[in-house]
Amino acid sequence: MGKIAVLGVFVADLAFRADRLPVMGETLMGNSFAMNPGGKGSNQAVAAARMGADVTMITRLGADDFAGMARDLWAEAGITPCVTEDAASYTGAAHIFINEASGDNAIIIAPGAAANLSPDDIEGARDAIENAQVFMTQLEQPLQAAMRGLEIARAAGVCTILNPAPAAELPREMLELCDYVTPNETETEMLSGVAVANEADAAKACEALKALGVKRPIITMGGQGAYLDGHGLVPAVNAGKVVETTGAGDAFNGGFAACLADGMPPETAVRYACAVAGLSVTRAGAAPSMPKRDEVLALL
Ligand code: RIB
Repeated sequence: MGKIAVLGVFVADLAFRADRLPVMGETLMGNSFAMNPGGKGSNQAVAAARMGADVTMITRLGADDFAGMARDLWAEAGITPCVTEDAASYTGAAHIFINEASGDNAIIIAPGAAANLSPDDIEGARDAIENAQVFMTQLEQPLQAAMRGLEIARAAGVCTILNPAPAAELPREMLELCDYVTPNETETEMLSGVAVANEADAAKACEALKALGVKRPIITMGGQGAYLDGHGLVPAVNAGKVVETTGAGDAFNGGFAACLADGMPPETAVRYACAVAGLSVTRAGAAPSMPKRDEVLALL
């Protein structure tokens, strides 16, 4: 079982399903509501743990009910928490709109206490990072915290994955610390200036990302699959009707990290990651939609 250290955010996802988004000033009747655990870092940690990895989750939580939801989720998934409790703040939440027909989403996230994650917090997690096979982070917490995590991991020879979500412009020093960067199409365009609609665009975008210092980009392309630099497009795995795409990228990243930590070559790890994501979109919620290893093996 490979070890993974994930730095990131937990939030409670407040998900509203409706036929469309309301316009400003309008009150719209929705079809349903659900509250589930979310946050990109935590979702990725859950996906990796359900794939069999030994995962440590590095974050900040408030001292409130949503923090209890995080701790219960991680206990159930077998994830080791490495948490700074910040009673002066609150555990974050995300407002999620889900389009009833397509399952696609639009999200507003307020990270709460996790917005105060600092390089000092990351120093406190040094052991977990240095003893992992893979360190993975995203961009929902401050950039300086992610940078510190990547620096510690790189100095210890730990494989680094940056999922650059939500989309942001990033300094070259940060991209140079990453073995793998896993943007979706929007994030790729933000980072590289190349719009990605197909495999040829993805190949071009990878060259632009490598020129920015990334060792090996992987561009996630929704229903098309994922483009692994130097290998090509790995097709998406269809596991049934799409119910909700929230957390599909997290499923991919968690699955990929777990397989890398387990010693698989990246080409194989991407194939497994596509299956993890393919299963996740057939279920509602982000963290609750992450499949178990047996389900992924059965699908493949
Ligand atoms: O990637 C999906 C996640 O993004 C959701 O769970 C939501 O919490 C936001 O952080």
